[in-house]
Amino acid sequence: MVFVLSLAVAGHSWKDHSPVGLPIAGVPEAWMIVRALYASASGLIWDLHIPIYYRNVMLNNPFEQFTQAHLPAIEHALDRYCPVDASSNAPLNEAMRYSLLLPGKRIRPLLVLFAADICGGSIEQAMPAACAVEMVHVFSLIHDDLPAMDDDDLRRGKPSNHKVYGEAQAILAGDALFARAFEVLASQIHPAATALSCIQELAEAAGPNGMAGGQSMDMQGLGDDAKIEMLDLLHRRKTGALIRCALRMGGIIANASQDRLAALTKYGEHVGLAFQITDDLLDVEGTAAKAGKTIGKDQAQGKCTYPALLGVEKSRKRAEMLIENAMKAISVFGKKAEALESLGESLLTRDH
Ligand code: IPE
Ligand code: IPE
Ligand code: MG
Ligand code: MG
Ligand code: MG
Repeated sequence: MVFVLSLAVAGHSWKDHSPVGLPIAGVPEAWMIVRALYASASGLIWDLHIPIYYRNVMLNNPFEQFTQAHLPAIEHALDRYCPVDASSNAPLNEAMRYSLLLPGKRIRPLLVLFAADICGGSIEQAMPAACAVEMVHVFSLIHDDLPAMDDDDLRRGKPSNHKVYGEAQAILAGDALFARAFEVLASQIHPAATALSCIQELAEAAGPNGMAGGQSMDMQGLGDDAKIEMLDLLHRRKTGALIRCALRMGGIIANASQDRLAALTKYGEHVGLAFQITDDLLDVEGTAAKAGKTIGKDQAQGKCTYPALLGVEKSRKRAEMLIENAMKAISVFGKKAEALESLGESLLTRDH
């Protein structure tokens, strides 16, 4: 075990040991052994619940390190931008805070902050946009779980919003989070022209050509002769658009050059689509205990997903291909892109 752990500690980067990494030329067998040892070491580290700091050192994942450095500030800011309000007896404020403050992965806010940082901007200035995109995301989750949509009772490891507050309050909590997101952008992003750009980005990503449009296609279904192009469009809209938007808002707040913004956009498009493919795979292969949501619902509800259309193996290959394309898109950032690379790769093996 000591040998296995020291192998992980000695690793230069997450990428070097990734399950999707390239074989070392000429010694594929040795590489297979290293990969197997590393995989078991990683699993062991997770399963033993080793404190996060030591886990990061062992796994040496730069995005994980960025996450641990900035997650507390994100949680604090979410709480601050949606504070306790005891001015009425309505449960709305409690319902908003319930779903918003449950422990999500915070991928979208982290991407806003990382994109701003990598383009030379300030984390602090980007924080309102990080919270705004998370608010819109949580709004989409609350509505996604409603009986009229996926009818899901479990979210982030806890009863869904409507199971706690009832359907009417859950609908309103979603509406209110959506509105609050734009209020935060309008009042907290400076200068006003940057706030306006962010408002436009988020509105487009949430609207008919983004999340709402994708959710509508998802509920409608693609029919028996579903084509991969339509499924791509559905997923790009329902999930990809907000992820792309998170990266773009970070870049915009940092006054990124056109080529850097274009690189972030491309990365966001590829990763956004891969993120929903791996979400679909989790629904087939994951566990409710780890994912914090019901598993097996997509098939039960006849959803058109990648595993349903292509099978598990081809879906995984497609996600890998998208992550490879995402990596190519961010070469403009040089060494700084390492964290985005490690995020892309860890998405492929995520279990929640
Ligand atoms: C779940 O999103 C819904 C999708 C868009 C796939 P996440 O997997 O980011 O969920 P949380 O925010 O961590 O709960
Ligand atoms: C929902 O996709 C994406 C959203 C816009 C919320 P899913 O329905 O697959 O998300 P989960 O699996 O319930 O989180
Ligand atoms: Mg859904
Ligand atoms: Mg759902
Ligand atoms: Mg899903």
